[in-house]
Amino acid sequence: MTKKLFIKTYGCQMNVYDSTRMVDVLAPLGYRPVQQPEGADIIILNTCHIREKASEKVFSELGRLRVLKDSAAQQGRRVLLAVAGCVAQAEGEEIVRRAPQVDLVFGPQTYHRLPEMVTRALGQDFGRGLVDTDFPAESKFDFLPEEAAAQGPAAFLSVQEGCDKFCTFCVVPYTRGAEFSRPVADILREARNRVAEGTLEITLLGQNVNAFHGEGLDGKSWSLGRLIRELAEIDGLRRIRYTTSHPRDMDQELIAAHGQVPQLMPYLHLPVQSGSDRILEAMNRKHDAALYHRIVAQLRDQRPDLALSSDFIVGFPGERDEDFAQTLQLVTKVGFAQAYSFKYSPRPGTPAAGSAQQVDEDVKSARLSALQQLLNAQQEAFNLGSVGQRMPVILERRGKFSGQLIGRSPWMQSVVVDAPAHLLGRLIEVDINSAHANSLIGQLVTEDRDHLAASSQDGTTGAPDRPAPSQSSPHRKRACA
Ligand code: 5AD
Ligand code: SF4
Repeated sequence: MTKKLFIKTYGCQMNVYDSTRMVDVLAPLGYRPVQQPEGADIIILNTCHIREKASEKVFSELGRLRVLKDSAAQQGRRVLLAVAGCVAQAEGEEIVRRAPQVDLVFGPQTYHRLPEMVTRALGQDFGRGLVDTDFPAESKFDFLPEEAAAQGPAAFLSVQEGCDKFCTFCVVPYTRGAEFSRPVADILREARNRVAEGTLEITLLGQNVNAFHGEGLDGKSWSLGRLIRELAEIDGLRRIRYTTSHPRDMDQELIAAHGQVPQLMPYLHLPVQSGSDRILEAMNRKHDAALYHRIVAQLRDQRPDLALSSDFIVGFPGERDEDFAQTLQLVTKVGFAQAYSFKYSPRPGTPAAGSAQQVDEDVKSARLSALQQLLNAQQEAFNLGSVGQRMPVILERRGKFSGQLIGRSPWMQSVVVDAPAHLLGRLIEVDINSAHANSLIGQLVTEDRDHLAASSQDGTTGAPDRPAPSQSSPHRKRACA
């Protein structure tokens, strides 16, 4: 009998990928994913611990789910409630103490053991939650099923996990553990499987993806640049992206790949966090603002149309007005197409959390709004610059209104077009007519329109039998770095 599995995913793209793999490991037990928690047999919250707000959301959601679980129990139906991801890793015992309705707690490294955990939890009565937040010696990748649910035209592929950088504000090295790279052969196999199902775009994921140093096909360690070149040989793989990168790991091979591999998209998320050398040093970022500018210049040399995105933290302990002014200067000088900015949030166990130089909340708020004003203006200007351009777009999902589809430009912009539903999953040419802060509006290129409307089997746009793409576009989420 089919059982229902609901997963709610918080945080970064890594979690989005992990959630798809949880679906895969539970499939042999008869679980199928559903879109709502009501009626589900297992509910998993795949959580994020990066900032305080993200963690607290989990506890409020658990309160709501308790009601759902209790009312199912009154009808004689057992619902398993599980917490996965980084909050689980960091606060496993605390979760079962604060939320006794939780049956299972498991970290990002142990979800390959999920079938066993679920079977055990079902075998015991309503008791204390099971906690598995090991960093096991075995790699989960060796135990995950090769059969994976199709991810649609734009898929994620995890190539690297964990982080050894220890930025002083960040929990990732503690929740995701030490850096680990998957062997190239495994990555290629997974990529080929995806492409065979109709995937046109693959985003390589890692907390620190450009620190990748997996075992290559020749037995030697390969860099990310080398891996990208190899992936580019896969017939039918039209687009490659990678996220999230650390400036220190942008080596020459990777920078050169931006100029030499046409499938590598001209958009890069390269977090800088701050424009002040003093703050970068206190953050233990291991580079200064000048290095960031140098890398950007080299990248743009290779690929003049490269658009950049970044993460910023304002109000890091000890940040003065002049430090913040340097952040604004860096933003002005680089020019970002998109960015994410956050107020510093002290995370338990990280070095900066204990600093005596915490910045007042109202100062943080004022800096955040000044920074966001600048970044929003840059994003708007970037989008406006697309008006009048013709660009290839992969149509990923339905729009809000009937007859509309939404896709991605090479520069990660959302593009809304009027297009027939059979074009979902296709790569098509679009003329951009107008721009908003967060999206572009376009139309199918006129000479293609009649042809595409008449045929759902256009040979130039990827595999003919495409699976239905996932409804939610995961691209808005970030990975760390
Ligand atoms: N406070 C605020 N922002 C943080 N980030 C990571 N840790 C913190 C923190 N303690 C941000 C960084 C990182 C992004 C994923 O989240 O900008 O790049
Ligand atoms: Fe590692 Fe990125 Fe966190 Fe720094 S911010 S510790 S590089 S995951």
